[in-house]
Amino acid sequence: MYDFAPAANADKSTLYDDLRAAAEAITAGESDGIANMANVAALIWQFLPDLNWAGFYRMADDELVLGPFQGKPACIRIPVGKGVCGAAAASGRTQRVEDVHAFPGHIACDAASASEIVVPVMQDGRVIAVLDLDSPLRARFDSEDQAGLEALVSALASRLYRSILPRFETAEAPSVRGTVRIIMLNRR
Ligand code: SME
Repeated sequence: MYDFAPAANADKSTLYDDLRAAAEAITAGESDGIANMANVAALIWQFLPDLNWAGFYRMADDELVLGPFQGKPACIRIPVGKGVCGAAAASGRTQRVEDVHAFPGHIACDAASASEIVVPVMQDGRVIAVLDLDSPLRARFDSEDQAGLEALVSALASRLYRSILPRFETAEAPSVRGTVRIIMLNRR
């Protein structure tokens, strides 16, 4: 069991420091990017107040595809350039939207959303995912939230990217015979 919890009455900067420490601790030593995204989304949901959606879209075949999240079921695929997420992916820059209804092309996944922040996850100069947070409050996210989330994403980017392969595929298999033996071992 993991028992991370935000400190009571913490100011925003402490909250983000604690969130980042928890996220670094829970992802340390885990090479599966999807598992790490799932735990980071859960921590954000637990630590940050006034959210109605928090999670990731992953870049796959030049479009954004829904990843691990907390909140209501959401739209699955978002073309790069469309909506707030697509704008973050296309520009490689954080999109902080005080009023989603005033954002041209905003994609409404939950009618309760009033404001939104989307932070691109960069690896080797490329956008490999975006972190998307929605709030039912107008102008929920300020520059301190942006700085805290950008620092979080930048510290964790490589852990959100790597993905683990089934053990028999990652094992050294110089010959067909070796490959067969490794598969058999892993099936036991
Ligand atoms: N509002 C986003 C779509 C994703 S949902 O908010 C989860 C957008 O405009 O890209």
